[in-house]
Amino acid sequence: MKKDVVPEDLLEAARTAWANAYVPYSKFRVGAALRSVSGAIFSGANVENNSYGLSRCAEQSAVQTMVSQGETEFVEILVYAEQEGSTSPCGACRQILHEFSPKARLYTVNHLGRTESCLVEDLLPGAFFHHPIG
Ligand code: THU
Repeated sequence: MKKDVVPEDLLEAARTAWANAYVPYSKFRVGAALRSVSGAIFSGANVENNSYGLSRCAEQSAVQTMVSQGETEFVEILVYAEQEGSTSPCGACRQILHEFSPKARLYTVNHLGRTESCLVEDLLPGAFFHHPIG
């Protein structure tokens, strides 16, 4: 990942979502915010469940919100968390981000200002894709 300039409006939205994360089990908050092609910002936080496997990541939450509002493409997405290193999307989230916007830029930012950036497609070489028959 290369270092890059952080889009401040996405950072603010991601930090707001971060504060709303529901994380009684992991205690690890994550916030994500994306800019759709229309210019709108959609954000999401991780939402855990006592049945742990039902927990949802912040990135997935942000994408679900975008699609629910009638958009299917984003140009950039920022993930905010507070740990020493950067918080890179999990494998499942990589597939979800790739579904909608493989060319989008991803920023990972932490509370110390550490920022890294790459393209969504760089995170998932050989992404699964199914061509429906008929
Ligand atoms: N999590 C995210 O929300 N996004 C990531 O990119 C990595 C992990 C969440 C899932 C779970 O609620 C918590 O972080 C600990 O794994």
